[in-house]
Amino acid sequence: MLVAALLSAWLQYGADAKPHARAVVTDAACPRMLVDGRAVAMERRAGKAPQFDDTVCDAAIAADAKSVRVGDRALPPPAHDPRTVVVLGDTGCRINLLTAQACNDPAGWPFPAIARAIAAVHPDLVIHVGDYLYREHGCPPVLANCANSPHGDDAPAWYADFLTPAAPLFAHVPLLLLRGNHEVCDRNGTGWFRYLDPHPTTACTEATDPYAIDVGDLRIVAFDSATAEDQKVDPSRAPIYRKQFAAARAMVKGPTWFVTHRPPYTNDDERSAMDDNLAPFEAVLSGHFHFFAALNVATLPPLVINGEGGTKLDPNLAGFLGLAVGDLHVVGTVFGISHNGFGVYTREHGGWSISLRDPDGTERARCRLADRGVHCTPPP
Ligand SMILES: [Fe+2]
Repeated sequence: MLVAALLSAWLQYGADAKPHARAVVTDAACPRMLVDGRAVAMERRAGKAPQFDDTVCDAAIAADAKSVRVGDRALPPPAHDPRTVVVLGDTGCRINLLTAQACNDPAGWPFPAIARAIAAVHPDLVIHVGDYLYREHGCPPVLANCANSPHGDDAPAWYADFLTPAAPLFAHVPLLLLRGNHEVCDRNGTGWFRYLDPHPTTACTEATDPYAIDVGDLRIVAFDSATAEDQKVDPSRAPIYRKQFAAARAMVKGPTWFVTHRPPYTNDDERSAMDDNLAPFEAVLSGHFHFFAALNVATLPPLVINGEGGTKLDPNLAGFLGLAVGDLHVVGTVFGISHNGFGVYTREHGGWSISLRDPDGTERARCRLADRGVHCTPPP
């Protein structure tokens, strides 16, 4: 008899603000789950489908749960008092028609090492700001560095680019997952909604509504900017974003982070619709540009970009600056580093320190995020 295997399991926050356990299994039946020693049924989120020979299961659990087990695997309990939060984004191995990262070489594609280094930090929460699947073409025959890589919006590519290398995170840290532009409906939206979207539905939609989660006394508003146009305004979407920004503003309660994929200050679609609705937030965190950047903008909260999580880096800050200025006044200097890694945000003296880490966990620079500003210094 074939024994049903647990392929993957993790804890992520749902759009209903509750922590959810998710499990992927080979069988059609969902595994047994124990929360604080009591059996909790998992529901089938997605059954087997042509490109996905697995079953995805889900169950909401209590925010104060202390122990979570799925099958024979222990999952991290929900965060209660987050002192350390890791932010990363843009993690997949890029394979284009003509170029590719060396997906099988840790130096060429560092996300697997980054996931291990993050687990070693023992953060209370990990925020992935989007863009998980970059294997969108077959490895070009002339290139050996990505040979045999799966590709496309199917289970093997999702395992290769995220579910397998993220296993060290799944074992240790609850997750808040944002959707990137790589996960819109005509790219890899089927896999995104199947495995990772925080809503109960698995049918791909172009825009989902913002939601808030409370992790201890830190409130985080998650905003889906996957389909926003970077460099033009789509008039059909303006009313949707206008409504969503107003809804996000209404969710501010105490110190609140606005977390999204595309930096709203540089995105034309969002800028046209955001009005002053971001003003009450403590910080805006995003990815999308493949580097780290921190900037202070007059009248708006500081913007921090952690898009350096493993995919091919964007080369410089100059292009970003060109996008950033527009009609916004950048206060002080913009700090940027184009190097793979992740950000460790730690509560400190009424604000947060940000330790920028290399893929092996070594610190590369430090910032302080407090009093509606972010200020960074490279290491001595
Ligand atoms: Fe992106």
